[in-house]
Amino acid sequence: MYPTLAAFVLLFHISTAVLAPTVLLNDGHRIPVVALGTGRGTAKESESVDQVRQAVYWAIQAGYRHIDTAAIYFDEEQVGEGIAKAIADKLVTRDELFITTKLWNDKHRTEQVVPALRESLKKLGLDYVDLYLIHFPVSTKEDDTLDDVDYLDTWKGMEQAKQLGLARSIGVSNFNASQINRIVQNSKIWPAVNEIEVNPTLTQEDLISYLQSLRIVPMGYSPFGFLVSRKTENAPPPRADDPALVKMAQKYGKTTSQIALRYLIDRGVIPIPKSTNQQRIAQNIDIFDFSLTKDEVNTINKFNKNVRVINPVDWKASPYYPFGEY
Ligand SMILES: NC(=O)c1ccc[n+]([C@@H]2O[C@H](COP(=O)([O-])OP(=O)(O)OC[C@H]3O[C@@H](n4cnc5c(N)ncnc54)[C@H](OP(=O)(O)O)[C@@H]3O)[C@@H](O)[C@H]2O)c1
Repeated sequence: MYPTLAAFVLLFHISTAVLAPTVLLNDGHRIPVVALGTGRGTAKESESVDQVRQAVYWAIQAGYRHIDTAAIYFDEEQVGEGIAKAIADKLVTRDELFITTKLWNDKHRTEQVVPALRESLKKLGLDYVDLYLIHFPVSTKEDDTLDDVDYLDTWKGMEQAKQLGLARSIGVSNFNASQINRIVQNSKIWPAVNEIEVNPTLTQEDLISYLQSLRIVPMGYSPFGFLVSRKTENAPPPRADDPALVKMAQKYGKTTSQIALRYLIDRGVIPIPKSTNQQRIAQNIDIFDFSLTKDEVNTINKFNKNVRVINPVDWKASPYYPFGEY
């Protein structure tokens, strides 16, 4: 008996997919150690939001089980449609997936959090997310001007979301060490994750050590830094053709982009590479058949310039502005 074409295509995808390992969060749930980024910050002008639906589907085909989105990306519907198609095509079941979304700054009052999450769930077409994050410690009004809601009040709403089962795990993003410490000192439930920028020009060694000492898992956004995009004249090294990275890439038979991602993995950080290109999506998860030596990790650490890709200076006047201290 011969398999049908559909069965053959499915078998082919299963056999070529690379599944990322998972790690344990401090609340007992497990998280896959690579996520597809769906933020629109590096999307080309010609790149429509509809491409996110296809990217999510390709990512699941390639073996990704973790997708990172946010209310402010305005693509939760497309993410949800990509997931729904992958489930309908029997590539995965819902419980094999790990979906992260984030609360935007204008919904920081305690009583706004659960309704904001319900809105995200409706767009995603899901009954729960695996991880819900406070996107920034800074609160703003609907007109984008600064507000003064304390993130401890926001965290109470996050705890409610977890208690209701709408989010299996809860965490934060862009919080500095003293802000993390303040939550930990004042809350029953600790953040499971802090999603922060990590790449060769912003290595975040102190903050990552602090998070790991509390068993809070760091997720690393903009993992390529200035390597492959944002080619402004003043962008700091390393770029994709940097000799030190090229040497490592040749040694392992990988690209320098894969070296940058593996650098995060080898430091216990979950990279969130964004791509809407099928080959690059597959390449970005094909990083589990090698690892960097300690010396190689240290060589990349030396690129650190504490230069941020994401630096929302307009919020500097907020009492909760996170950047400037580790
Ligand atoms: N929590 C936060 O505040 C926050 C902030 C920023 C970002 N994020 C999350 O992190 C994700 C990633 O960050 P990001 O979008 O800023 O930047 P990034 O993932 O570091 O870079 C994305 C850029 O790299 C290109 N690219 C991807 N894979 C490549 C490869 N293998 N070789 C060469 N080029 C490659 C992409 O182009 P193609 O698409 O054409 O491949 C795109 O131009 C976001 O999508 C979002 O989910 C979170």
